[in-house]
Amino acid sequence: MAQILEGVALARQIRESLRERVSSIKTKCPTFQPVLKIIQVGAREDSSVYVRMKMRAAAETGINCEHINFPADISEYELLLVLKQLNEDPSVHGVLVQLPLPAHLDERRITESVSVEKDVDGFCEGNLGRLAKRGSDPLFVACTPRGVMEMLKHYNISIAGKHAVVIGRSNIVGLPMSLLLEKANATVTLCHSKTEAISEVVKTADIVVSAIGSAHFVKADWFKKGSVAIDVGINYIPDSSKKSGYRMTGDIDFENAKEVVSAITPVPGSVGPMTVAMLMQNVVESAIRCKD
Ligand code: GUN
Repeated sequence: MAQILEGVALARQIRESLRERVSSIKTKCPTFQPVLKIIQVGAREDSSVYVRMKMRAAAETGINCEHINFPADISEYELLLVLKQLNEDPSVHGVLVQLPLPAHLDERRITESVSVEKDVDGFCEGNLGRLAKRGSDPLFVACTPRGVMEMLKHYNISIAGKHAVVIGRSNIVGLPMSLLLEKANATVTLCHSKTEAISEVVKTADIVVSAIGSAHFVKADWFKKGSVAIDVGINYIPDSSKKSGYRMTGDIDFENAKEVVSAITPVPGSVGPMTVAMLMQNVVESAIRCKD
């Protein structure tokens, strides 16, 4: 039976230690107050759930967090103007635009308009590019990959020299995840929708990180015995036993895979809470940078 890599308690521990760090700085510097602004456009139910989780975590951590919700038909010009104001406001340490955005807004242009110093999501080219460039460090690393690295460290899973296979090449997860694993001296293979014989590639992995967004896409018999399985997927499948009629599940066939691998993350309860905790860490670090 695999070790279950739990993330709820670990995320709580990180939030508590951040809270202590914030309050200890406040005793010496009473004006110190980390501030995060979350921009949501429209009212997608999934986005609203994520925003609520971030707001709750911020309150617990001692971060002043404002949710700015615009109607779905806001113009790109208006949104860019708001971002400009937030970039110029010295009391703000983190600005996050909840994705996805409505189709009439250019997602790349919007995320690039958050200043590199306040891009707590780590999405802009100034941060992702610095992560890719050897010898250069980003101000912020995207929260999900950062959370995965934190979990691997916490559970003493060695990375150096191992073969890590990342499934999915998004700017938000797959790409930065592969760069972080490579920086930690893994040999990395980045798989995606065009990868041929993907099950055979996964079979050679010591560590598998799946961020493909397809329920139970990764089958138990793809894994090498004793490998480590990290599931970043958040998918919903029909479940008549639930009031909503749906149940959250990951990319990996957890029930069968846990009989093959040595360690595995459950969905929900692992990478998700770690993502939110890393966002809080990015905001607190940004506020400390501004103070110094
Ligand atoms: N939508 C899904 N995941 C994320 C995330 O990590 N950050 C933002 N801003 N939007 C998202």
